[in-house]
Amino acid sequence: MTFSADISPLNTMALTCHAKELVCLHSIDDVLPLFERLNQNNMPFVIVSNGSNIILPKTLDATVISPTLTGQNMLFEDDDFVHLEVMAGEVWHDFVVASVEKGWYGLENLALIPSWVGASPVQNIGAYGVQVEDVLESVTAFHIPTMTFQTLSKADCQFGYRDSIFKQQVGKWLILSVTFKLHKKPLINTKYGDVAKTAREIATADNRHIITPKDTMQAIIQIRQSKIPDVKDLPNCGSFFKNPIVKKAIATDLKHQFPNLVTFAMPHSDDVKLAAGWLIDQSGLKGKGVFPILTHINQALVLTNHAPFSASQQDIKNAMQLIQDTVEQKFSIRLEPEPVWIEADGSIRQTH
Ligand code: EPU
Repeated sequence: MTFSADISPLNTMALTCHAKELVCLHSIDDVLPLFERLNQNNMPFVIVSNGSNIILPKTLDATVISPTLTGQNMLFEDDDFVHLEVMAGEVWHDFVVASVEKGWYGLENLALIPSWVGASPVQNIGAYGVQVEDVLESVTAFHIPTMTFQTLSKADCQFGYRDSIFKQQVGKWLILSVTFKLHKKPLINTKYGDVAKTAREIATADNRHIITPKDTMQAIIQIRQSKIPDVKDLPNCGSFFKNPIVKKAIATDLKHQFPNLVTFAMPHSDDVKLAAGWLIDQSGLKGKGVFPILTHINQALVLTNHAPFSASQQDIKNAMQLIQDTVEQKFSIRLEPEPVWIEADGSIRQTH
């Protein structure tokens, strides 16, 4: 069996991976013939875009599909909104910056997230009080089981915290483009953490009293850069665990034992979100793990790879299990990983 496609550059965790084949999709016209060929030959496939949320095996007995479709299309605009269709292979952060420069708002808090546009709805990327569902209008995708092109409304996407239909039905959808509805009037959301303070400092340094959306974006960039390492310097895949969502009674109980417990209220729900980074930190694991996979010294929720292109999926599993076991012993909560785990046969696991 030959694994001739080196797809190692396609994952920000810097794991070495060789797959059967790599197909870069440059045109929508190539989608149907590709899946007809894969079906005829009964070939497994894995879709990889920016590779910032996947844990790869050493060998992958599958065709890897990279949806490198680019371009952006203004569908229509009125006095208040622009409606934009953006192709799946556009780089997320570049899209955010270009939109803010044009005076189209709503994406600022999602700056610097390492993603491509097409991957953004899969786990409903979110940061600093905003999730992609807040600005998303629809998604155009190829539905693999029925071999049909479909447009899904926001409701069809079934968004939740780090969740969507695309994550629930992994391997069934190939996202081709995302349509966004962006505001033309400045929109400022600085409620999370230090965002307001940092944005104010940026405006003040520029002799202004009023905070602009660009200030918010710069504040988010500063905050992220201070906590989350650049994948080029220290490979990682962002938050490694989801923030656990627990019943209010459990959070209240924990708060009695640990008065500094960090909690976030959940909209439209009685449940409470806990900060996994805080739980790991308080378990004494900041900057620790199982070498070469260690939590980051500035943000314990981020697992970093100190042996790029030498560490393996098993190394990640070792560090992950140590963290899960230690946190569980102290807080009776089992953390769930956020990245998608790809097995050697191309199958995908979401939980451990
Ligand atoms: N905390 C600690 N120690 C740590 C890390 C965090 O005490 O080592 C505390 C912080 O002081 C804060 C709380 O935990 O009180 C939350 O930390 P932070 O604001 O850094 O956010 P987070 O909950 O750890 C989530 C997202 C991030 C997103 C930030 C900001 C998840 C799984 N992660 O992290 O998303 O950028 O909020 O909104 O929801 C990602 O998904 O890859 C990602 C980076």
